[in-house]
Amino acid sequence: MIKVVTVVGARPQFIKAAAVSRVIRDTYADQVQEILVHTGQHFDENMSKVFFDELDIPKPNYNLEISGGSHGLMTGRMLEAIEQVLLKEKPDWVLVYGDTNSTLAGALAAVKLHIRVAHVEAGLRSFNMRMPEEVNRVMADRISTLLFCPTEAAVKNLQLEGVKSGVINSGDVMYDVALTFRDQARQRSTVLQRLGLTEKAFTLATCHRAENTDDPTRLKQIMSALGSIANDLPVVLPLHPRTRKLIYEQDLQPLLDRVTVLEPVAFLDMVALEQAAKLILTDSGGVQKEAFFYRVPCVTMREETEWVETVHAGMNMLVGADTDKIIQATIDMQSKEPANNDAQPYGNGRSAFGIVDALVKH
Ligand code: UD1
Ligand code: UDP
Repeated sequence: MIKVVTVVGARPQFIKAAAVSRVIRDTYADQVQEILVHTGQHFDENMSKVFFDELDIPKPNYNLEISGGSHGLMTGRMLEAIEQVLLKEKPDWVLVYGDTNSTLAGALAAVKLHIRVAHVEAGLRSFNMRMPEEVNRVMADRISTLLFCPTEAAVKNLQLEGVKSGVINSGDVMYDVALTFRDQARQRSTVLQRLGLTEKAFTLATCHRAENTDDPTRLKQIMSALGSIANDLPVVLPLHPRTRKLIYEQDLQPLLDRVTVLEPVAFLDMVALEQAAKLILTDSGGVQKEAFFYRVPCVTMREETEWVETVHAGMNMLVGADTDKIIQATIDMQSKEPANNDAQPYGNGRSAFGIVDALVKH
């Protein structure tokens, strides 16, 4: 029996961990004991609890209740608290996901105690070290024993950095999740009826990335674009708490008069909205890929992406934060025929099995 401490804290990590945790419980229960640590980074009910409920994730064994503050403060407090958990639990592995401050704190706490780190979503790069996520993922990869890459491009990025040992192309656990929930979302979610939306007659938008929200000019340009697009096609915007706060601080709400602004939505509602959207406009990593999985054209309000396969397939366009460019791209991409993405660059939908198997075998 091996013991794995999983560290999660942010919305996309709950979703990714759900897939792996399910495989541990259903298939490896006699070989793997999982201890779940929630750092507390995301804490609103609709940013955290709804995902545990809907995706049937066990209640965390520890909730460290650490959120907010500067990057150093948040990461430092997490480091201190996770270290205490690890000293007590003495796991064989610490499993971390993605590129948030919770990822870095989990990996760093473990490696300093000589506990092996496994990183899911290793090898992704934007090559923009001003992004907090890029710093977190580069550091986490450097100190991980097992590096589970979601794509071949991620494997190549690591090779170029001279990292070969422990690198496994596991496929993307988000694709596992998409296959599990796409039909359930259509059957169980009532979001389209509740909002009075017609299939393929609205744009779904999300925006939360620091480079967009923390730059007043970019935030205003993006919100102006959404407001303008809403003149022709309804725009639905489930709003991340970070963005909501900044929109109010900068008095940008009038720009969103015609936009349907929502609280963050639960996962099944989000998946239902994504599948029904005519177009997705986002700066989220996960949402770019889900657009690709569900064959919905995507416009990404960033200068670069880690998910280069979506762009190569012609299903995702990078436009940055310029109002006119965003508007033009939504017009151009709306007429995009769904790509034939049968040759999935994101694995076979069974990535979580490969990940747990590798943890057991190493
Ligand atoms: C974090 C990740 C980002 C990821 C995103 C997913 C880092 C550095 N960033 O960004 O990579 O894409 O999560 O959503 O780890 N807040 C609330 N309620 C919540 C959650 C956050 O009010 O439930 C507030 C926080 O108090 C803070 C702000 O939103 O003021 C930002 O939260 P934070 O966790 O620092 O970063 P995210 O923008 O969520
Ligand atoms: N998501 C959700 N409700 C929302 C917005 C996003 O369930 O209101 C899901 C989305 O479907 C995807 C994940 O959250 O699976 C993406 O998380 P986020 O955009 O916060 O972070 P990122 O992927 O950019 O790190």
